[in-house]
Amino acid sequence: MKIWAHRGASFEAPENTLAAFSRAIDSHAFGIELDVYAVDGERFVFHDRYLERLTASPGRLLDLTQAQVKGLKVFGQQPIPTLREALEHIAGRCHVNIELKGDIPSQSLLLDIDYVLEKALFQPEQLLVSSFNHHWLQRLKHRRPNINVGALTTCCPLDYCDFASRLNAFSVHVDVDFVTQELVDDAHRRALEVYVFTVDEGHDIEELHEMGVDGIFTNHPSYAQKIIEGLPG
Ligand code: G3P
Ligand code: MG
Repeated sequence: MKIWAHRGASFEAPENTLAAFSRAIDSHAFGIELDVYAVDGERFVFHDRYLERLTASPGRLLDLTQAQVKGLKVFGQQPIPTLREALEHIAGRCHVNIELKGDIPSQSLLLDIDYVLEKALFQPEQLLVSSFNHHWLQRLKHRRPNINVGALTTCCPLDYCDFASRLNAFSVHVDVDFVTQELVDDAHRRALEVYVFTVDEGHDIEELHEMGVDGIFTNHPSYAQKIIEGLPG
């Protein structure tokens, strides 16, 4: 079962920062999941629309300038990285799942994706772009068919993973509260991988292993690794 470090090893260091990514790499995570918004023409790694939970500032992320975002600290400790800084930091050490939180123009996102591929910092199969907005994924897939996309969902649709097949997705990313054996089996019949979020409890990891899911997003990759090592092959 693949371990995706959710926002990096966010149990151990401020989420979506280079420190959290380093901890995830130290934990030998298969990959790092990070969240991205476009702000003032730059792509920044940040989860929330609003600043209050993660920084000392009030207001909305999208109302800031690039310089203002660069002046913020997550939990008063770590700067907010740009997507390019994050990718350069992670390159050669594990896979990356870029979750699109805002409607980032394809051309803007491709500035970073094309850059890391041209510099051979990543192979295409080491990148996975996901979103709850499947229109954005379709747009990206149209422009770069070689980039894998992961279709996020918090529901268990009537027609199971048909939405992901229609996107030509690589994977479905499913909320732990709504994943079922039927959905997992349907995904596998369609040759889709199944990754489940957000999974920090040993009991859940054991159940998902039994169901045959391919990976989990966890805030605590070193703990998840220990649990998985103890599971029957
Ligand atoms: O990508 C999986 C998970 O991160 C989706 O939800 O809100 O944690 O970004 P969220
Ligand atoms: Mg996310």
